Amino acid sequence: MTDDLLTPENLKPLLGGAMFREIHHFTAIDSTNSAAMQAAAAGAEEGSVFIAEQQHSGRGRGGHSWHSAPGTGIYVSVVLRPKLSPGDVLWLSLIAGLSAHEAIESVVSVAPDLRWPNDIMFGQQKLGGILTELNADVHRVNYAVVGIGINVNQAEFPADIRELATSLRIETDREWPRVEITAALLKSVDREYRALNVAGHPAAAISSITERFEKASSYARGAQVRVDEDGGYSGRTVGLDARGFLRVESAAGLKTVLSGGVRKLVEK
Ligand code: BTN
Repeated sequence: MTDDLLTPENLKPLLGGAMFREIHHFTAIDSTNSAAMQAAAAGAEEGSVFIAEQQHSGRGRGGHSWHSAPGTGIYVSVVLRPKLSPGDVLWLSLIAGLSAHEAIESVVSVAPDLRWPNDIMFGQQKLGGILTELNADVHRVNYAVVGIGINVNQAEFPADIRELATSLRIETDREWPRVEITAALLKSVDREYRALNVAGHPAAAISSITERFEKASSYARGAQVRVDEDGGYSGRTVGLDARGFLRVESAAGLKTVLSGGVRKLVEK
């Protein structure tokens, strides 16, 4: 795909009035999340975007690495300075997932699945992921960085993740414009974040996010899952709670999943 580089020149004309105007583009970098966290610590303004064609040390959740081959995926991190309380920050991850879902659906016309809290899925394979990092004290978020990785035009993956990962190209047999998907993604994050980022408890945005997340995710309600925390247990998902955590009805009663590690036992 000619000139599908994720440069400010290519992205800005597609971004409309979105807050993401300060775009830092790198041919290669260690991790866009690391760069964004460092810049935020040094005072980078809300809405600064760090985007790379390749990451040498792309980071995933739980200390995992994120495969970031050159020119094929989307590796983007945004700096936010939310008015939310630290207890509401999970909603930032959930809106990033919804935004990725919506951006992919609008450009590619396929709807990826969302696996609570941070995975963008196609069937049982990962199409993308979200890593939200925070600098906060007990009462106040100083800044947050939301990093989003989407596998777009990878034709294959290294042997160790081949079974686990997929890309839009593998799923649809054609390449897709990363610039268009990234612009749609940033516009959607902008919209979701504006609705969520109100002083106090953003109840209206939260009920809309919960409803849409449960609709977009085949994991959120009625899925038989195995959860790898609290010693490991199985059960049936019964939606998100008021703080955005996943609830699972298990043999030992109703449980709240705190950190992820949810696998489906049977396809719905
Ligand atoms: C996960 O599924 O474990 C989260 C993956 C997050 C990957 C993205 S790519 C852009 C940003 N920079 C990073 O180093 N990680 C995130």
